Amino acid sequence: MYLNQNFSRRRFMGGIASVISYIGLKPSTNLESQNSRKLLTSILGQEAYDYDSFAKISFNENPYGPSDKVREVMDEAFKYSMRYGYPDGNVQQMIADLHGVNPENILLGAGSGEILKTVGMTYLLPGKKVVGVEPSYAQVYQHASGIKSDSILLPLLDDYRQDIPAMIDSTKRNYRDVGFVYFCNPNNPTGRTVSSGEVRQLLDGIPEDMPILIDEAYHHYVEDPSYATSIPYILEGRKVIVTRTFSKIYGMAGLKIGYAVAPADMIKEMALYCTGGDPTAIARWGAVAALEDTEAEQRVRNITLELRKKTTEELTALGYDVIPSETNFFMVHTGEPVEWVQEEFRKRGVLVGRAFPPLLQHLRVSIGTPDEMDRFMVAWKEIFPPKTAAM
Ligand SMILES: Cc1ncc(COP(=O)(O)O)c(C=O)c1O
Repeated sequence: MYLNQNFSRRRFMGGIASVISYIGLKPSTNLESQNSRKLLTSILGQEAYDYDSFAKISFNENPYGPSDKVREVMDEAFKYSMRYGYPDGNVQQMIADLHGVNPENILLGAGSGEILKTVGMTYLLPGKKVVGVEPSYAQVYQHASGIKSDSILLPLLDDYRQDIPAMIDSTKRNYRDVGFVYFCNPNNPTGRTVSSGEVRQLLDGIPEDMPILIDEAYHHYVEDPSYATSIPYILEGRKVIVTRTFSKIYGMAGLKIGYAVAPADMIKEMALYCTGGDPTAIARWGAVAALEDTEAEQRVRNITLELRKKTTEELTALGYDVIPSETNFFMVHTGEPVEWVQEEFRKRGVLVGRAFPPLLQHLRVSIGTPDEMDRFMVAWKEIFPPKTAAM
């Protein structure tokens, strides 16, 4: 009950955020925006205000949202709001071209979360298991339980990387019960990558007919030269499904569009299980414009990586251990239970990540705007004493 209330409140406030972002509100910058805010507050209530006032560094979003160019294209696409059939900028072909595959290799969804569930429906029924590490993107395992399937969860290595030999071993030992192998690269919530050599090792080590779901939601932030996308394995004919999203570097989390790249026969199988989560006309046009606006993508990447470096260096200087990350978030070891830490930050107007069992004293911090990261550091210094003498 409590969870449900929490969830719907989050969804409600997320909805408000989309409206606010669409009408272009930039907090208290001009009279027009203040009037719009008053109007929204009168329609939607105080919650809209409350939501805006927090530093939101809990869900690994891109805090800048879609670029101006992308917003212009989406504004224009509003004219298709009342249609079922409409030109959509050939988004599927565009994505296929980007990855050097055919449109038959692409499945669009209302966010990549939708695709992850579709993979579960396709390859876990009836009662098969997914093999993966914990913690990782929990929605995959939660969905498996939801459809009365199960997960075989393996611990991370001591350096928080994913244990590829254990995945191979577990898949082989449970071969008949396993529906697919899942790994997130780079992993959420740790931010660590699986190297291209390890991906090869995994593919060489498990039976060729075993589907592998590789979640590349944070691909665009990676600097590690040992990492590479796994899309080329699809061209090799392996049973690999790679998922990508427009929710992260392209700043479209509230608009929901993502996709899978996979062999055409797997796309056909999965399409049967798609639950109607089609991206909207606005999201499709937004995606087309976002892929074209490579300058904006680079800008977001640069500022995010710069701020991650600055924040993690400050925390390290204060004596706290940070897991090296290749994403727009990082984990820091606080030595305190995450629920308590979360509440302390919330009291100071900062929303940070939840607990990711079994890492119960590691806090996941998403990279927000420079102002949000300043607010995070001010709150951090109030909550946690420095561990180093010099500070
Ligand atoms: C690893 C990972 N995969 C998938 C998703 C789902 O993204 P969306 O459904 O917004 O595309 C997320 C969202 O946070 C994520 O972190």
